[in-house]
Amino acid sequence: MSKKFGILTSGGDSPGMNAAVVSVARYAQQYGVELMGIRRGYNGLLGKSENELNDIRKLRSETVLDILDMRGTYLRTARCKEFFLDEVLDQVADDLKNKHHIDGLVIIGGDGSYRGALDLCKRGVRCVGIPGTIDNDLPYTEATLGYDTAVNVCVEAVRSIRATSRSHDRPHVVEVMGRRCGDIAMRTAIATGAEMVIVPEKKWDLRDVIKRLNEQITNGNPRATIIICENAWEDGNMADYPWREQLCGSDECVHGDTPFSTKLMAHVLKIACNAEVRSTVIGYTQRGAIPTAYDSAFAFEAGHRAVELLMNETPAKDDGFAVGVQHGRVFHTSLKDAAQKKPPRPFDEKMYHTINTLPYLPREDDLILVAARNVKK
Ligand code: F6P
Repeated sequence: MSKKFGILTSGGDSPGMNAAVVSVARYAQQYGVELMGIRRGYNGLLGKSENELNDIRKLRSETVLDILDMRGTYLRTARCKEFFLDEVLDQVADDLKNKHHIDGLVIIGGDGSYRGALDLCKRGVRCVGIPGTIDNDLPYTEATLGYDTAVNVCVEAVRSIRATSRSHDRPHVVEVMGRRCGDIAMRTAIATGAEMVIVPEKKWDLRDVIKRLNEQITNGNPRATIIICENAWEDGNMADYPWREQLCGSDECVHGDTPFSTKLMAHVLKIACNAEVRSTVIGYTQRGAIPTAYDSAFAFEAGHRAVELLMNETPAKDDGFAVGVQHGRVFHTSLKDAAQKKPPRPFDEKMYHTINTLPYLPREDDLILVAARNVKK
């Protein structure tokens, strides 16, 4: 009997997901395997739609050829709230095997999606994961699908921000995505020459940020860029700095329970450093971009590997496979290890330290500016 595979995208969409779907469709066709596209992530497996055909549809290579360069994910995506409940997982696994007769499932998503895939493996469904997330927070792989694109979007944005910052001699705080992983922030900071980076991996203190910015300004750089990863607020010590009191009477109204944010940080720095600090949150443009050549090529190779694994390899009991990048090459490993973030990846302390301590080398113009400032004082 001929084989039938399924494919879905899950969690936050990431650039390159469509290219991976195209690749799986093309290689499946080459092997004579029927491919079903499952819509809206794991939700599509729950049979919630009135018409089930809406959720699980045959994917023809003619259809998917057109989506190679499409932004977002053609299959749609979702974060499925019920996908950890035993009764839901039992039913889905049973449906996949006995109702849809699907022999293997390709899951393109991040760590939450990998955990769901592992739960299906434990119920006898053969799964292969392709790491689709901009966050690069799956340590078993050097890169996740969409990470390179997200970094390029951020670099492009920060270059523009630094141009306007330079024009006005203003510091700027820029927030990037990454959830609890500072890779997008670090890579963007290195690539753009940003003067500071704040990431969830490292505890930090608002007073140090103020000190560093003041040093930059004093040394003739009133246009420093601070890159912050979206969730790094939890790791910062803001308590000892009287930022709420300082903002009283300023144009920013702050209540006792107002959480810290990029915009607030800019206001605090404005007052603490006497500078016209501005802020930008790059946000979802990082996810909706056209994949870079790196991500498209990775997607294509990963899709090929996923089909080969489902055709030719048997995973260990209760386990599946995860495709990734190691030493610059596509490889595969245990889904169990990948989902459990094994092996852990060490944080690049040296680079973090370098970005945050590199002194500014003033130009002639800067020295004139510093002199003028000193005269004003
Ligand atoms: O995981 C990808 C990601 O874009 C994170 O960087 C971000 O924190 C999160 O998704 C946002 O999720 P949502 O689309 O649910 O707002």
